[in-house]
Amino acid sequence: MNRSDLALPIKENFFRKHILTMDQFDRLSIERLFVIATAQLENFLGHRASNHLVGKAVNLYFREPSTRTLLSFQRATTQLGGAIQIDFGAEHSSDAKGESFDDGLVMRGLYADTIVFRHHDPNAIYLAAAALAQAGLETRLINAGNGGDEHPTQALLDLFTIRRRRLPLGGLKIALIGDLKAGRTIHSLLRALACYDNVEVTLVEVPGLELPVEFGQTLPTLEFRQTTFEEALASNQVWYFTRTQKERAEVGCQVGSDFRLTREVAEKHAGPKTLIMHPLPRVGEIDPAVDAMPQTTYLWDQPVSGVAVRMALLSLINGE
Ligand code: CP
Repeated sequence: MNRSDLALPIKENFFRKHILTMDQFDRLSIERLFVIATAQLENFLGHRASNHLVGKAVNLYFREPSTRTLLSFQRATTQLGGAIQIDFGAEHSSDAKGESFDDGLVMRGLYADTIVFRHHDPNAIYLAAAALAQAGLETRLINAGNGGDEHPTQALLDLFTIRRRRLPLGGLKIALIGDLKAGRTIHSLLRALACYDNVEVTLVEVPGLELPVEFGQTLPTLEFRQTTFEEALASNQVWYFTRTQKERAEVGCQVGSDFRLTREVAEKHAGPKTLIMHPLPRVGEIDPAVDAMPQTTYLWDQPVSGVAVRMALLSLINGE
């Protein structure tokens, strides 16, 4: 199974299924999710637990490093009354003894109701879905990052953050800055933005790490343009930075320099409604001196949105 094999009537019966790609979503399903996420945000910030996942277990199957995605899914699960199965990595499971991917996945599917899955191989999430289906298991799968391809729950929390900051998604003007080739958060974000009307996307690309051309072809509702770094800051409401994915760079590949936002440049171009976003981790793209600006979202709004959106997703796919 791979992306092209996905049965996409998921839009009609979406929240009973896996969450593998932003392609599964349309505007209606995103908006429905945000209604639940808004309520879950209040529960989370008010330290109110709920019982949507009581008696259920969520397996965190992470084969790449993570701070935010792993911990926010963990918090979301416990906030909903569910149990966490931390999967301590291939070297601490029977993967290390040579167990096959399918066998290991099916075992996890037997013990857990949902598997949150991060893997360096973009196709592994689709192989995991196929292995669960082959075993007749109803276990839900959530894509927590599949190589340089997608990170759909990050895109949803990013949109939810923009919405919480009261910027309309229709007509949004957003600059995407950095590694647009392997930045999986960018790829999912573009698919999510394509669900809204009149969105203008300005690309500020690290030379050698340009957005794959198919995005322009497959997302015709988006209006793309390219410009310089400072012109993009001056002309967009949302500045979305991403780091260079060094772990995905081809050996010997020479790329241009990353863009770096200093406080001076940020103050020169930011208006009161500008949003300065980053999925994190950052490795120099935004100077820490920028952090105190009220326009930033990466150290509070986006991480908090992550718990709320993941609470909403977990409760919806587990049958709310
Ligand atoms: N944004 C994000 O995916 O962060 P982590 O890699 O820390 O989970």
